[in-house]
Amino acid sequence: MLMIGHRGAMGCAPENTLLSIHKAIELGADWVEIDVHCVADKLLVIHDETVDRTTNGRGKLIDYSFEELRALDAGLGQRIPTLQEVLEVTVGKVGLNIELKGLGTGKVLTSLLRNTPETYKNKMLVSSFLMPELEQVVRLNQHVKVGVLAGNNINESIAWATKLKAFSIHIRLQKVTPKWVDRAHDLGLKVYVYTVNKVVQIRRMKELGVDGVFSDYPNRLTS
Ligand code: G3P
Ligand code: MG
Repeated sequence: MLMIGHRGAMGCAPENTLLSIHKAIELGADWVEIDVHCVADKLLVIHDETVDRTTNGRGKLIDYSFEELRALDAGLGQRIPTLQEVLEVTVGKVGLNIELKGLGTGKVLTSLLRNTPETYKNKMLVSSFLMPELEQVVRLNQHVKVGVLAGNNINESIAWATKLKAFSIHIRLQKVTPKWVDRAHDLGLKVYVYTVNKVVQIRRMKELGVDGVFSDYPNRLTS
């Protein structure tokens, strides 16, 4: 079972920062998950549409320029990273799951991938709750793996995953049942579960046969 560091290793360092990603690698994560929003045709690594919770700034991303956002402190003196920076620090070291958060992210990711060497794409998975963004990625980057993030309606998400020929479906811990795991596996989908932080939960997911878990503490997967 894969251990995927959630927003890097957000239980151990400020989420979605390069420090958090380095920490996840140090703690032995197989993959890291990050969230991206589109700002001025670039992809910035941040979870929310506002900067309040994770930086020393106030307000919405759209009310900032790219340079202003880059000047904010995202915790322990870290800047909000660009996706390009994350690609550089993860390539050859750890798999990268890019979660598309905002509108327009699929289009911008597509143009970034056009100039990205194949080596960066070998261990890359693009996921989203936003099916139009994923659709765009699939249409324009057939070689990139995609994962459907399932909310409450797993049936609907499985239908989307089938339509998009997705690699994986990502299910909330509270929604996982043996039935869903078997159903997804029967359709050839990997099952990744978020967010799994307690050792006992991680063990239970392994027993259930899921293929990977997202955790804020990527060192909590014991044998
Ligand atoms: O990709 C799994 C998980 O990150 C989805 O939820 O809100 O943490 O981005 P969220
Ligand atoms: Mg996420």
